[in-house]
Amino acid sequence: MVLSALFLAFLSTPIGGASTRSTVQPFKVDLARGVPHLQTLVKNTNLPTEPLYPDAGPDFGLDLATLREWQTQWVNGYDWATQEAELNEFAQFTTTIGDQTVHFIHEESQDKNAVPLLLLHGWPGTIAEFLPIIKPLTQSWTDPTTGKNISFNLVVPSIPGFPFSSLPPQNWTNVQFAGLFNTLMTDVLGYSKYALHGTDWGGAIGYNMYESFNTSVRAASFALIPFLPPSPQDIADNNITLNALENVALQRATDWLTLDQGYFQEQTFKPNDIGLALYDNPVGQLAWIGTDFVRWSDPRAGTGPSTLNSTTILNIITLFYLSGTFQSSVWQYARNPNPFRTDYTKPATDAPMWFSFFEYNNLFWPQEYVAKVGNLIAYKEHDFGGHFPGLDNPPAFIEDLREMGLYFAANE
Ligand SMILES: *[C@@H]1O[C@H](CO)[C@@H](O)[C@H](O)[C@H]1NC(C)=O
Ligand SMILES: *[C@@H]1O[C@H](CO)[C@@H](O)[C@H](O)[C@H]1NC(C)=O
Ligand SMILES: *[C@@H]1O[C@H](CO)[C@@H](O)[C@H](O)[C@H]1NC(C)=O
Ligand SMILES: *[C@@H]1O[C@H](CO)[C@@H](O)[C@H](O)[C@H]1NC(C)=O
Ligand SMILES: *[C@@H]1O[C@H](CO)[C@@H](O)[C@H](O)[C@H]1NC(C)=O
Repeated sequence: MVLSALFLAFLSTPIGGASTRSTVQPFKVDLARGVPHLQTLVKNTNLPTEPLYPDAGPDFGLDLATLREWQTQWVNGYDWATQEAELNEFAQFTTTIGDQTVHFIHEESQDKNAVPLLLLHGWPGTIAEFLPIIKPLTQSWTDPTTGKNISFNLVVPSIPGFPFSSLPPQNWTNVQFAGLFNTLMTDVLGYSKYALHGTDWGGAIGYNMYESFNTSVRAASFALIPFLPPSPQDIADNNITLNALENVALQRATDWLTLDQGYFQEQTFKPNDIGLALYDNPVGQLAWIGTDFVRWSDPRAGTGPSTLNSTTILNIITLFYLSGTFQSSVWQYARNPNPFRTDYTKPATDAPMWFSFFEYNNLFWPQEYVAKVGNLIAYKEHDFGGHFPGLDNPPAFIEDLREMGLYFAANE
């Protein structure tokens, strides 16, 4: 199942000296052997020449012309080796925690006071969701108002079931992932206190860490919280007035909760059906996943600060396909069938929390709601970007994380 196990380098390197209990192995992405088969499949996949209903629109799923363009690029204008080399510019490792193999990027700053920061991806994001922000965050940056410097040691793990980490047991939920990642940060890497950011499933896992590990998680930032977003009626009943950006976000969230539940129900109830149907069908995986990158990102994707374009999407699908993890990633939904809590309560932690709002995200929580579930220091609003801030608007996302980092550095 997990092809990546074949590609581990079995060179054991302890990190952090004698006190370290676990060891880590350096890891390089090496999936090139699957590429010829992938190319044959992509090239030989027939798609209709004309859409069934040309006026159906995006509410009915991906547009045929877009999928055909992507297929053409995958055959004629795409090079896996380039992508693999880019991934391998990041220092990557695997470690064993219990029975799980956990893959992670660990990029350290030159600065000995750097803030440890855990970044948690979602579906269908993978670690590739964060690539544009990792290196800039390791660099020292001087806050122009205070003259203080900030930089980070980044840890970016792959959720079990996603490319390069192992398959989790069927009965594991985000609670076990939260424990796994806290162990990674503290016991394996020796960061007794750290900050984290989570989005999508990473937001749910990160939130669990925020409430469960109040001595080690000393700052948390989210772009998604695992609480059922309020309806327009709830918001009105609470006398909350929204600005123009928030009204756009509310409409998008309402659309997601009504029109976009197809994939969610499928993956929650029948992960094997879609997982097996598309197991050896890369163009099928592209259609299934690609539609979400289009729907959930900023409509201006690929322009301005956004680095999310067709190449990014092909990179992520190629990663899923070549690592054989499409099916196991989809199982994340089945293993966590009710991710949104309805009871908005404060967890037992005094650690501060930040929230990054991006206008074109597919889910929306007004500041008043976010403030109920943590010690909210700031609710940062951005008029560019969507569900994938590390791709949709890296500069704004970096700014938000540095704000959290400065606070962490001053208080921990
Ligand atoms: C911040 O970093 C700059 C450049 O690395 C350095 O010149 C400066 O002394 C640092 N400031 C503080 C307050 O450490
Ligand atoms: C999962 O199932 C195994 C085998 O029945 C059991 O030992 C384990 O405690 C379960 N884990 C969780 C998190 O429920
Ligand atoms: C909203 O405003 C109305 C009218 O001023 C008031 O009766 C109601 O109690 C308010 N609701 C909340 C939740 O504050
Ligand atoms: C997508 O953006 C990257 C840079 O972020 C660029 O190298 C690549 O050529 C772009 N792809 C397309 C199809 O425009
Ligand atoms: C941290 O969690 C422990 C339980 O693990 C709890 O007793 C303690 O009160 C919590 N601290 C804060 C500040 O809420």
